[in-house]
Amino acid sequence: MSDLATRGAIGDDLAYLRATYPQPDWRTHANFGQLADFWLHIHASLRAEAAAVENTLAAFRDGRLDAPAFQRRFVPDLNRFLQHLNAHHQIEDSAYFPKFRALDPRMARGFDLLDADHHAIHDALDRNVAGARTLLAALGGSGPVDRAAADYAGRSRTLLTMLDRHLADEEDLVIPAMLEHGERRVT
Ligand SMILES: [Fe+2]
Ligand SMILES: [Fe+2]
Repeated sequence: MSDLATRGAIGDDLAYLRATYPQPDWRTHANFGQLADFWLHIHASLRAEAAAVENTLAAFRDGRLDAPAFQRRFVPDLNRFLQHLNAHHQIEDSAYFPKFRALDPRMARGFDLLDADHHAIHDALDRNVAGARTLLAALGGSGPVDRAAADYAGRSRTLLTMLDRHLADEEDLVIPAMLEHGERRVT
């Protein structure tokens, strides 16, 4: 079982370039280029999409959105977020992670961790989809809505906690590596 939902930031043993390239200086470094900017942009949009789903759910549970309005917003927002997340992880797994591993043997342990994170996130994502289906079925009359909404909220929180940790740790590995080696080595 992954500890992604509870672990703190990865240590300097894995993020061995982090101290050399601290986050506040990333964007002003000469090697900060389009890929690093794009990577951070994708992560920011995943965080924003996740927050939108949580806000819609909270509005429904607080009574600020009725059931039809909730469904109209929740279903497309959740689909967009999950598809975006899936597509992002697929391109990392197939294209980018192997290239980062090839930069330096010291990268391997960090990318083993990120690989494991992807599996853990996908298990949490499956549980999230199952919870969403149960909630939508309850809204259609199959069972108590409050309980289904509370259950879904827990699954959603777990997924987003895991995702936040993963995105931050991944940034601490990939951005300093691009600054150290240059983007051309990973594109
Ligand atoms: Fe990732
Ligand atoms: Fe990522």
